[in-house]
Amino acid sequence: MGHALALVYALGGHKVCITDSNLETLAGSKALMISALDLLSEGGEVAASWNHGKLSQSVTWCKTLEETLPGVDLVVEAISESLDAKRALYEKLDPLLNEDCVLASNTSGLDVFPVVPASLQKRTLMMHWYSPPYLCDLVDIAGGPYTDPKLVEEMVALVKSLGKEPVVFKKFVPGYVANRIQAAIRLEVFDLLDKGLVTPEDVDRSVIHGLALRIPILGVLAKSDFSGLPLVQKITANKSYTPPELKGNCTSLDRLLAEGNSGVRSGKGFFDWGEKNPEELFRERNKKLLKLKKTLREIKPMLGAPN
Ligand SMILES: NC(=O)c1ccc[n+]([C@@H]2O[C@H](COP(=O)([O-])OP(=O)(O)OC[C@H]3O[C@@H](n4cnc5c(N)ncnc54)[C@H](O)[C@@H]3O)[C@@H](O)[C@H]2O)c1
Repeated sequence: MGHALALVYALGGHKVCITDSNLETLAGSKALMISALDLLSEGGEVAASWNHGKLSQSVTWCKTLEETLPGVDLVVEAISESLDAKRALYEKLDPLLNEDCVLASNTSGLDVFPVVPASLQKRTLMMHWYSPPYLCDLVDIAGGPYTDPKLVEEMVALVKSLGKEPVVFKKFVPGYVANRIQAAIRLEVFDLLDKGLVTPEDVDRSVIHGLALRIPILGVLAKSDFSGLPLVQKITANKSYTPPELKGNCTSLDRLLAEGNSGVRSGKGFFDWGEKNPEELFRERNKKLLKLKKTLREIKPMLGAPN
């Protein structure tokens, strides 16, 4: 996520300094940014003035935190999803930051506020992006118990200025909206797979040809308005749907991993991805996402009366 977020801020006209404790990852991040920039350029999603030279002028790759932090206004923390690692990093950041510098964590599911040093509490918030953030526009924003409310407003304005879609939470909820829904979908799908009721192909065909077609236009609640709320109330009251037990594992997934199948990067997961290089597959996915995004921009979702 780090390289992709650096690209988003650079494209938004900001000077960016990027670092990583793994210097190989840091070195590799430039090629990833270039590849993403090329995709956006080919798709006409960035101004024609954007090229590799401009990227190199906008981003500085720094080997240490000490090199990265002087003079920065915003730290985007996108390190590994471990509370201990985040705590250790925030402690290191604390003495190195300007007194007005904002700390934004990209954590997916950890409540980081209890491990933020007291002196940073007012200036810390969650700003959670979706992968790849140069294509996915949603940004979840949540302040902590001591976050300055004005800061939340400022970050909403910043996110909008990047052409993105902020959603503000009254307080941090692990998984926010989108990842909670995704977790519920996974729970259901894993249960169906483990019971042997459908194949992985059946699951994804059901999602793609049934659920997915409506969601981009109507979301979940506008879909209820179109179904008619009396029907939604009846279905809710029938309790015909019972969520599966929260087992904490999926046997079908465990089996795949035990066989060394970890997904696209290993060539096989729930599906066989053939001999194709994973980078090629990610690029193909991103190209399709970009096409879909353009189409959706044209169609526009139906959320209430048209403006
Ligand atoms: N991958 C996603 O789709 C996604 C989406 C939204 C949010 N997030 C969140 O963003 C964060 C990063 O996710 P990711 O998938 O990019 O993780 P990742 O494991 O791919 O990358 C984390 C990077 O952090 C570096 N790192 C670890 N400790 C560090 C330290 N102390 N200082 C500097 N660098 C350090 C690692 O070397 C690694 O390159 C996590 O909190 C994750 O939950 C991920």
